[in-house]
Amino acid sequence: MYEQASHAVLNDILRELKPEIGNFRLRHFYTRLGANFYAIHSLFHLLYGDRLDFKMQMVSLVETLAVRYMERSPPLRKSDLARERDYNWFLSQKWVGMALYCDRFAEDLRGLRTKLPYLQDLGINMLHIMPILDCPPEHADGGYAVRDFFNVDARYGTTEEVEALAATLKKRDMLLVLDVVVNHTSNAHDWAQRARRGEKKFQDYYFVFDDREMPDTFEETMPEVFPATAPGNFTWDEAMGKWVMTVFNNYQWDLNYRNPAVLIEMIDIILFWANKGADILRLDAVAFLWKKIGSTCQNEREAHLLLQLMKDCCQVTAPGVLFIAEAIVAPSEVAKYFGEDAINAKECEIAYNATFMSLLWDGVATKNAVLLNQGLKHLPTKLERATWLNYVRCHDDIGLGFDDNDVRLSGYDPVQHRRFLIDYFTGRFPGSVARGLPFGENPKTGDSRISGSLASLAGLEAALESEDPTAIDDAIKTILLLHSLILSFGGIALFYYGDAIGMLNSLAYLADPAQRDDNRWVNRSYFDWQKAALRQQSGTVEQRIFSALKKMITMRKELSAFADFDNRQLVSVDNPNLLVFLRTDMHNARNRVLVVSNFNTKAQLLSLGTLRPYGLFQQEAMKELCSGERITVDNDAVTIPALVSCWLVD
Ligand code: GLC
Ligand code: GLC
Repeated sequence: MYEQASHAVLNDILRELKPEIGNFRLRHFYTRLGANFYAIHSLFHLLYGDRLDFKMQMVSLVETLAVRYMERSPPLRKSDLARERDYNWFLSQKWVGMALYCDRFAEDLRGLRTKLPYLQDLGINMLHIMPILDCPPEHADGGYAVRDFFNVDARYGTTEEVEALAATLKKRDMLLVLDVVVNHTSNAHDWAQRARRGEKKFQDYYFVFDDREMPDTFEETMPEVFPATAPGNFTWDEAMGKWVMTVFNNYQWDLNYRNPAVLIEMIDIILFWANKGADILRLDAVAFLWKKIGSTCQNEREAHLLLQLMKDCCQVTAPGVLFIAEAIVAPSEVAKYFGEDAINAKECEIAYNATFMSLLWDGVATKNAVLLNQGLKHLPTKLERATWLNYVRCHDDIGLGFDDNDVRLSGYDPVQHRRFLIDYFTGRFPGSVARGLPFGENPKTGDSRISGSLASLAGLEAALESEDPTAIDDAIKTILLLHSLILSFGGIALFYYGDAIGMLNSLAYLADPAQRDDNRWVNRSYFDWQKAALRQQSGTVEQRIFSALKKMITMRKELSAFADFDNRQLVSVDNPNLLVFLRTDMHNARNRVLVVSNFNTKAQLLSLGTLRPYGLFQQEAMKELCSGERITVDNDAVTIPALVSCWLVD
């Protein structure tokens, strides 16, 4: 959009830039800055317009963008241009990701390069390396308490090795995803250290208070993220003699985005990693970016404005780079991280589909798809040029963040139902085969979440112990069912590193004082390469899981109906154990796949009455793609085997 006032400001700013910027070839930079400047200026003004140093901060922001553009390498600029032309590239069904810890999956970054064949064997072409930046080892929160945003932890390697890995991945047509921890720093970060030494400039980077008055006021409405291990939202800092806001662990200091200098620093960090070759940046804990008295300090409008600014700025310097929003929030809030009141994504192009993830787990516990159907009906539609990151498990706990109203509409009492789910997954419910652990239990609110590896939650650990072949079968089927759904739902599927070989809970964390109080480590094991080798031995659990997943991934990549263009229709059927949806190729309506998933441990009938209006099953049979078998009609119904998800085509 062209607008006089902001254009005049832009001209002004360009005159004030450092001379070396003016001399550099910046054609694409100026085109993009011109296109985005109205938005950047308006948003920046909305947030910081009343400050005396507004203009200076605006110049500093534009300078940051220009300097990082000058640094961007020719191959990355070329890739930016290609992605600008093919702007829907990431909506393709060809992308299947995996999140892993570089030191737990391989030794280090160098070692990781030698392990790429394993990923490629499975069909993975997007690699999310969990945070690798320098953190104090004893207080790292798994890499999310960063001490130095520009340096890789020496145990993992160097920044050059990240660049080398990015280049290797590019050659293999694989994407690299890196984290940027935007919400907080470690208390050992240089900014925090200087704040502690009394430097006012850096105290303004955080929320720092002399007494309890403000902290108490904030805490009236702020929930606790880690009530069991880090209660409260503020920590007394002895050195500074002040209270500091620490929403997560007490050593993670929340950054104060009311200070524009913080935003500019963070944009600089984002662009730094974009320039090191990351294709996608996962922005951590984005719901928490803006703190406001009287609110929960989550999902505030300003948090969205900050993300829009980050996106607009990234589009000027590194337009090929996408953002993932890690916002594990209520279903009604989560889609807002694509951007509100927009057609195309204007904040993050990708968001964790936490709603779908938690609903899937509800299906596993209840053995039906009632809440799953209900919850999906209310999953907000995403924008164009935006996509979900669908996942079954990640490194964190599983929260039961369903909408209470959906729980009621499914015929359950929200409190009792959540209690049941916690009991089920922690194995306390009679007959439960799950082996999870309660996480973040909060006696004040009764809330709790769940830790545990996918395989242990799905019953594989218990089944292997009891050596019961039927139970082993069921656990394997559950693992495959859940993956089949994240592969067919629409969006990028994100696997978690041990899941394709059925890795169980690991109790090794209990021996490490820095980890033993945080049971999320139970599902962050060292990858077992001996177990992985068993994937090649016919009949092993590893082989049964791995080969089935590999087949699904191969199949998914061939199915244009699985690309993500808002081309999923939920089909309501009269059997509560089934989830049924239809995926249709946007460019050719004859290419479509009916996905039918049975959460029950018994085979279920799907009557065809509800499918006929869609023109399905006209041939009296459909083919299941992964097994190659024909599903035939009998008495106007078809039988869907227990714990199976079918991909059916005419
Ligand atoms: C994100 C991470 C989680 C971490 C938290 C604080 O939610 O996924 O592991 O503890 O942010 O950084
Ligand atoms: C994340 C999520 C929360 C999760 C926590 C750490 O930001 O909001 O669900 O439990 O951080 O695991």
